Amino acid sequence: MSKILVTGGAGFIGANFVHYWRREYPADTIVVLDALTYAGNPASLKAVKSHKNFHFVHGNILDQPLVAGLLREYELDTIVHFAAESHVDRSIHGPDAFIETNIVGTHSMLKAAKEVWLSGSGREHRFHHVSTDEVYGSLRPDDPPFVETTAYAPNSPYSASKASSDHLVRSYHHTYGLQITTSNCSNNYGPYQFPEKLIPLVIVNILAGKSLPVYGDGQNIRDWLYVDDHCRGIDLVLKRGEAGGVYNIGGNNEWTNIDIVRQVCGLMDECFVRDEALKARFPDAPQVRGRKAESLITHVKDRPGHDRRYAIDAAKCRAELGYVPLESFETGIRRTITWMLDNEPWWRAVMDGSYRDWLDRNYGG
Ligand code: NAD
Ligand code: DAU
Repeated sequence: MSKILVTGGAGFIGANFVHYWRREYPADTIVVLDALTYAGNPASLKAVKSHKNFHFVHGNILDQPLVAGLLREYELDTIVHFAAESHVDRSIHGPDAFIETNIVGTHSMLKAAKEVWLSGSGREHRFHHVSTDEVYGSLRPDDPPFVETTAYAPNSPYSASKASSDHLVRSYHHTYGLQITTSNCSNNYGPYQFPEKLIPLVIVNILAGKSLPVYGDGQNIRDWLYVDDHCRGIDLVLKRGEAGGVYNIGGNNEWTNIDIVRQVCGLMDECFVRDEALKARFPDAPQVRGRKAESLITHVKDRPGHDRRYAIDAAKCRAELGYVPLESFETGIRRTITWMLDNEPWWRAVMDGSYRDWLDRNYGG
């Protein structure tokens, strides 16, 4: 049985991980530590919040005494570290928060873990650091996908901050013997994703009849993975991964952005044909006027420094951990669209500010 601290557990992947872990290991203690920045949403944890072994702590990973106190109070033996500033576009406009949370915050987490776990108690422990394929930089069309030994070449303030944190994590293993693992994952999609990221943004914009902004020529490539498959990958790394090890997690599922947007448009058109009631729920959607969702696609100015292609080679995970993604893109994207249609209050609240008001009332901002 594990007693696990999930940082950033109110964010997209963190919340999915909490639900995954609760399902797989119902008796385990889970403590979530989250600062509830704009991307953290306690509503994403509603289904687990009254569980007796679940604890939510509103706090910052930069607060080393708080983290060390939690590790001691709950006798935690595992950290899964998701908390981060995660959006590339935001890092271009305001890098400071990325340096603070992703680099200084991760270092603060490492110091707290070292203080408690390496202080002579000899407790079995594991610090798992969740990183990204973006640290490897950008691939040309014919380059082989990223492997764990690909040289780091981060191009955005976001990926540079994640790369720095990866190096700090590595150093705490080699220098102090902290039992760490790191996973570098490709683009995730699925429930609870904040609608600033491509796939949920396209879905909510179609429903609102707003334009679908495609950066540049739309030919940039990402390797998409259903979020639950990422969570399962992390579980396998925790259970079977070697301390000090690095694991690339991916879906072997490369798409150009324009094809992703067209695919989502086509599936949304199908939804409106299948379910007439959607027209009354979403009167601004193009389908209401007999138009296709694709008519909303608009090419806009490119993201500065936009990486052309990412792709993950997950052979090490497959060979050493037995990892295979379960969800195909076809099934995963349908599940995601269905989830968005079934959970309108979740994304409406995130977008209309009532969720911010609720945060202010409950957590003082
Ligand atoms: P997200 O932005 O949805 O969630 C981040 C969470 O961290 C939020 O709940 C936020 O409130 C919390 N947080 C931010 N700063 C904090 C701080 N200082 N202290 C405590 N909590 C803080 O991000 P996500 O998409 O769920 O990504 C989670 C992790 O996975 C990140 O480390 C990211 O780099 C990595 N990752 C994401 C993807 C992806 O496609 N989304 C892919 C690979 C790796
Ligand atoms: O590769 C893993 C990374 O994937 C994670 O480390 C990041 O945390 C996560 O945000 C994601 O980064 P991307 O920049 O790839 O994701 P995003 O959804 O912002 O964009 C996906 C692609 O779509 C990218 O090429 C930019 C493009 N895009 C994005 C938005 C928001 C558009 O063309 N239009 C848009 O409006």
